[in-house]
Amino acid sequence: MSNTILTGDRPTGKLHLGHYVGSLKKRVEMQADPANKLFIMIADMQALTDNAKNPEKVSANVLEVALDYLAIGLDPTKTTIFIQSQIPQLAELTMYYLNLVSVGRVRRNPTVKTEIQQKNFGEGVPTGFFIYPVSQAADITAFKANLVPVGEDQKPMLEQTQEIVHTFNHTYQEVLVEPKAVLPPKGQGRLPGIDGNGKMSKSLGNGIYLADSADVLAKKVMSMYTDPNHIHVEDPGQVEGNMVFTYLDVFGTDKEAIAEMKDHYRRGGLGDVKIKRYLIEVLEAEFGPIRARREEFAKDSAAVMEMLQKGSEQAEIVAANTLAEVKKAMGIAYFD
Ligand code: TRP
Repeated sequence: MSNTILTGDRPTGKLHLGHYVGSLKKRVEMQADPANKLFIMIADMQALTDNAKNPEKVSANVLEVALDYLAIGLDPTKTTIFIQSQIPQLAELTMYYLNLVSVGRVRRNPTVKTEIQQKNFGEGVPTGFFIYPVSQAADITAFKANLVPVGEDQKPMLEQTQEIVHTFNHTYQEVLVEPKAVLPPKGQGRLPGIDGNGKMSKSLGNGIYLADSADVLAKKVMSMYTDPNHIHVEDPGQVEGNMVFTYLDVFGTDKEAIAEMKDHYRRGGLGDVKIKRYLIEVLEAEFGPIRARREEFAKDSAAVMEMLQKGSEQAEIVAANTLAEVKKAMGIAYFD
């Protein structure tokens, strides 16, 4: 079965290990199947919906996110990597879809609701932010994606997209493809931050980034939240809620060695520095090569921008086809 897959990220910062386990790794797996057609979008238009006064934050991170993509192994010869704002058809589709969605319906979107509260927007919420789920429906349907790998928080966006697809296809003609969310397996996809406070996120400042140097990575691991009551090496320690063991469970490959370390830690006699050194080794094994590739690509940012330009050109062709079908179905393809 061949799939068309679309997903993307807001370029508001570099990508971290939470993104990696929650979504990036899965994309590389999907890319490996030649039956899959992947579109990966840098969602700068969406990022601007709450950064309009600070556009440099968005534009400066476009290259960083692209470097992260290349570093983890997304391959522009197999996957179309593009920049949202360079595809004008997405904005056009959004305008037509907005007429199919009520104000009441966008107001009920639980993710947007939470974000409006968190950001203290109240009535001051930018209209573009308020309706970004509709723009996201345009992103997905423009490419006729049937699968959309996203985190749990994006489920409401997919539901909204499905509704728009139904309404459109019933009101006009069967043009749009109904997408399905591909969610990370239960218990995965929510990597806690190094401080153990909620999930890894830029705003909480508790992340390890793909771009972090070996030195920075080691320092961050050394500062990780463990068991605050494990003061002396000989004290019995707690493994649950101890970020070092949480990360070892996610990233470690030698499960036996890790099980033994957990027993030892629980009994007492195993120090935090030892387990942290081991975690650094484990993380370096996976992320050392990714960092090295990132540094290589970063040497020629012009080539990366060229790759994004080519990807955007390819993406525009696909989106333009869908838009033409959409306008025809709506009866507004006047000059065809
Ligand atoms: N909302 C997504 C995020 O915040 C980014 C995004 C924009 C997206 N358009 C998309 C994801 C379309 C999947 C499909 O990470």
